[in-house]
Amino acid sequence: MARKIVITSGKGGVGKTTLCCNLGVQLARRGYRVIVCDLDFGLNNADVVLGVENRALYDISDAVEGRCRPRQALVAHPRYPTLFSLTSNRVLERYVSAQAVRLVLEALSPQFDFVLIDSPAGIEDGFHRAAACAEEALLVTTPHISALRDADRVAGILKSYRFYSVGLVVNFARRERRRGGLLLSEEIAATLRLPLAGIVPEEEKVFSENIVERSRAFRLIADRILAAGIPMKGGA
Ligand SMILES: Nc1ncnc2c1ncn2[C@@H]1O[C@H](COP(=O)(O)OP(=O)(O)OP(=O)(O)O)[C@@H](O)[C@H]1O
Ligand SMILES: [Mg+2]
Repeated sequence: MARKIVITSGKGGVGKTTLCCNLGVQLARRGYRVIVCDLDFGLNNADVVLGVENRALYDISDAVEGRCRPRQALVAHPRYPTLFSLTSNRVLERYVSAQAVRLVLEALSPQFDFVLIDSPAGIEDGFHRAAACAEEALLVTTPHISALRDADRVAGILKSYRFYSVGLVVNFARRERRRGGLLLSEEIAATLRLPLAGIVPEEEKVFSENIVERSRAFRLIADRILAAGIPMKGGA
């Protein structure tokens, strides 16, 4: 059965989709069978980041409503044979319940190792739907104090879900210490009382390429997820 990991954040634009897709690539490169499931119905873009946009004949709403089998809603990645994209449909959002999405993912689960669920930012319905479909969570934040307050709010709510594990990923990290109001990743983890699953530095390349196959940071996060089953303490 697939491990289902939701990727969440308090603030928008902190790198959830980037992490979700790059983690998917890193796991697929090791031969694991991975679904990147986009449950950010309002602003779905994981297919674009993966470079498989316009390839989907069906999306998750079609699978939920029986217009296709769950497997038919998956788009195989042309470059990574064990990586699949499951897109959402912004038009039909109001019809899709967490329970219905869970059933689709349950049907796919035996044939896969990981389902990585891209969640919308914040704590609205879309977040709860994504969280309700997972057993593990990664919370993404940036080192800015403004992002931390939102992350703290989400961290509190994640606790009520009784996930098997919750790990923290600090994105847009800078190497310099304490400059311009940026916090150290270890301080952030201590404040949020979450184990650090990874630190992703701010990179020019991510802007231009979306998928950075050789990224050490994403590789290390994949290693941690694989090694422990749950994220372990320690930085990149
Ligand atoms: N480590 C990084 N270095 C440089 N650019 C990054 C990094 N991580 C993400 N980005 C860029 O930041 C932007 C936002 O990232 P992304 O879309 O992954 O955030 P998000 O949390 O999914 O946003 P949303 O809340 O809107 O869904 C993108 O243009 C992405 O390429
Ligand atoms: Mg996103």
